[in-house]
Amino acid sequence: MRIDCISNISETQAHDLAGKTVFVIDVLRATSTMVTALVHGSSCIVPVETVVQAKQTASEGDLLAGERQCKKIPGFHFGNSPHEFRTDAIAGKRIVMTTTNGTRGIQKAARGATVFAGSMLNASACAKAALRLRRDVVLLCAGTQDVFALEDGLCAGLITRELIQASGRELEMNDFAAAMAAAYAHIEHRLEEALLSCDGGVRLSQLGFADDVLYCSRVNCFDIVPVLGDGALRAFDR
Ligand code: MLT
Repeated sequence: MRIDCISNISETQAHDLAGKTVFVIDVLRATSTMVTALVHGSSCIVPVETVVQAKQTASEGDLLAGERQCKKIPGFHFGNSPHEFRTDAIAGKRIVMTTTNGTRGIQKAARGATVFAGSMLNASACAKAALRLRRDVVLLCAGTQDVFALEDGLCAGLITRELIQASGRELEMNDFAAAMAAAYAHIEHRLEEALLSCDGGVRLSQLGFADDVLYCSRVNCFDIVPVLGDGALRAFDR
């Protein structure tokens, strides 16, 4: 198994995703929120690129969720804060979601053989899912507006380490995956501090979402891995 890490969505073009297991990583906050929503019983999440598509896709009984500039979209039921989804109100509900980077990353990754949503919250479960599929792995850091975001890279480093540990052997990887694994090892003992002080963490904290940053920096809390199929993310059945 080989691991390739891509630093942001705009770089996906240069990589061949066909036949690979792809993890889209948007730690702050889209993929952390997706994991949280499935953990709290949402039946599935439909990721779409635009607000118009979200409104057109949602049917009676669905919930609309998402953000622009980190803020809830007017008229939507939920924003993109994982804390909003920690409620029984989403049990059994289909959530149609659009975010600036995370849902765009899922669309870009769709050429992969299997597309998962990865985060710090479910990193170990991600590694186990990838090993089960036995294909090469692409870790696609969503970034912010086509620029690398440290929190996504650190999560890619964490998943790389989990993959090595779970497989019990050295794995081939590109230079960026090796660099992110080293960065994670360097920073892991002060992860909360690192996420609060990176660009995305500062932006969210200034908007009053520091609690989200702390929540998204928790490691290996959940076993659920969202997997894309028929246009929706559901819990991967291991
Ligand atoms: C995104 O998908 O762009 C982010 O999750 C933005 C946010 O944190 O609201």
